[in-house]
Amino acid sequence: MNPVIEVKGVYKSFKNVQAVNGVDFEIIKGQSVALLGPNGAGKTTLMEMIEGIQKPDAGEIFVLGRKWKGNEDTLHQQIGLSLQETHFLDRLSVRETLVLFASFYCLDRRRVDEIIQLIDLAEKSRSYVANLSGGQRQRLAIGIALLNHPKLLLLDEPTTGLDPNARREIWSILLRLKQQSQTSLILTTHYMEEAEQLCDRIIIIDHGRILKKGTLSQLLEAENGPKIIEFSLEAPAETNGFAPSRFQIQWAAGQGKGSVILSDIETELPEFIEFISINKLRLKTLECRRKTLDDLFIEMTGRRLDD
Ligand SMILES: Nc1ncnc2c1ncn2[C@@H]1O[C@H](COP(=O)(O)OP(=O)(O)OP(=O)(O)O)[C@@H](O)[C@H]1O
Ligand SMILES: [Mg+2]
Repeated sequence: MNPVIEVKGVYKSFKNVQAVNGVDFEIIKGQSVALLGPNGAGKTTLMEMIEGIQKPDAGEIFVLGRKWKGNEDTLHQQIGLSLQETHFLDRLSVRETLVLFASFYCLDRRRVDEIIQLIDLAEKSRSYVANLSGGQRQRLAIGIALLNHPKLLLLDEPTTGLDPNARREIWSILLRLKQQSQTSLILTTHYMEEAEQLCDRIIIIDHGRILKKGTLSQLLEAENGPKIIEFSLEAPAETNGFAPSRFQIQWAAGQGKGSVILSDIETELPEFIEFISINKLRLKTLECRRKTLDDLFIEMTGRRLDD
């Protein structure tokens, strides 16, 4: 199947910053892909090169089988995008804003009504854009991106800075879209939950490079992959006098709390409990959870995704 996006050996620098440092990937029709990475990872720079807004220093990008140069009009008709920061005309209403953008694509008002329903802004259709909440503005930006029935939707941080409710509203719009259409989606985010909820594939980037890519279960080594044990103690531990063990505990909170990765929970959890008791520690709480993308990112970089 022909890829909808091909990124081949792409580099981009600004003065002394190497923002994108040799990136290759492909996206297949109908796929949803997250570019997941912390601040400054190079997500926006990469997206803007895919969107034809910035030019790579080296490498090639094909969007729907075409390069940007010489194909600008065709590509603009077929993609929908929302930038990291959207500026609207504050003195237009929601409906007027959509009508204006619809006119660029020669779309009629029926399409505007469909979009207002899709983004759930019927109650606000006559409100000035200036009076919308952050989540409503972001829904409007997604609505504009969807007006022309794009084959490919590119969203740069669609939910950053929104509260959990507003974020979930956007997720449900995008999940509905995914069920109802063959639109391919690429979005950037630093929320691992967003990547997990919305995307079939995840590309983790940092310092302009891809650290890992794959499906969620490939990245997290599937269901029977390692588990994280998080525990707290009745009193902080004197960790330097411990009996030797194979557990690599990450201590936190003045050594009153810690976590450890167990690859085989059935055999290792009893051993871990024994280790606690040999060292005369008293457990206050103990929780077992699956590995997350955040754990994976910490393993690879020593930093958290949202730092
Ligand atoms: N126009 C520019 N001029 C100079 N440096 C830039 C420019 N655009 C981006 N950079 C630098 O390139 C690097 C990557 O920036 P980019 O905006 O692509 O990151 P990002 O992953 O989108 O981050 P965020 O999550 O904060 O949006 C950063 O170090 C940034 O300071
Ligand atoms: Mg960005």
